[in-house]
Amino acid sequence: MNIKVFDTKQELDAYAADLLCAKVAAKPNAVLGLATGSTPIGIYKELAARHRAGLSFQQVTTYNLDEYVGLDAANDQSYAYYMRDQLFSLLDIPADQTHLPQGMAEDLDLECERYDTMLQAQPVDIQLLGLGHNGHIGFNEPDAKLSGGTHVVKLKEETREANARFFSSMDEVPRYAITMGVGSILKADTIILAACGADKSSIVEQALTGPITTEIPASLLQTHPRVIVLLDREAAQRLTL
Ligand code: GLP
Repeated sequence: MNIKVFDTKQELDAYAADLLCAKVAAKPNAVLGLATGSTPIGIYKELAARHRAGLSFQQVTTYNLDEYVGLDAANDQSYAYYMRDQLFSLLDIPADQTHLPQGMAEDLDLECERYDTMLQAQPVDIQLLGLGHNGHIGFNEPDAKLSGGTHVVKLKEETREANARFFSSMDEVPRYAITMGVGSILKADTIILAACGADKSSIVEQALTGPITTEIPASLLQTHPRVIVLLDREAAQRLTL
């Protein structure tokens, strides 16, 4: 694994944006896999700045990792809302080239199949990932077994609690989500995993240097040939580099 440690989050954000923008410059119709959470926000700000400076995203296609079940795109806690707010409204990317799993779909199994079919037709060039405190990637929670394709997942209480900060009460935090599977994530040509803060240092150490186990979904990234891990000093503090 290619691990890079940055003194500041701003440097990390700029580096991640460099990687994504270099891909878009070299391949204007690149397929980008995108993530939510607090970690990518600065990266998206950088992408918006690069667009303002002249880089076009008009031919880019995006696939997001996950979405809550039961929140529509107008709900400000949905990932569809987040992506519009933090990124898509700041780029020139046509809305019909941006994809998220539909958490309001009547038939969720059919929605998972639809998402996988699209992903198979448009393989992801670069997948951006954050890291959950329990090692989840997307919403692939630790388990005795993991799903390859897009699926509905029951969120762990620890994940609901970690994400409760965005909702007005714990009751409002959805219990289910749709997520790309680890199998789909690993099909991306290149993966960027970004993690910041001392609170991520333990899971960073386990995911990158511990045994490969479905109980830490991010540890499966060790099997991928092109993973670039971007960390700030705090998140990297338990690694001997
Ligand atoms: C959520 C998302 C993940 C994200 C994780 C970490 O659970 N589904 O994709 O990686 O949060 O978020 P943060 O970057 O806020 O720590």
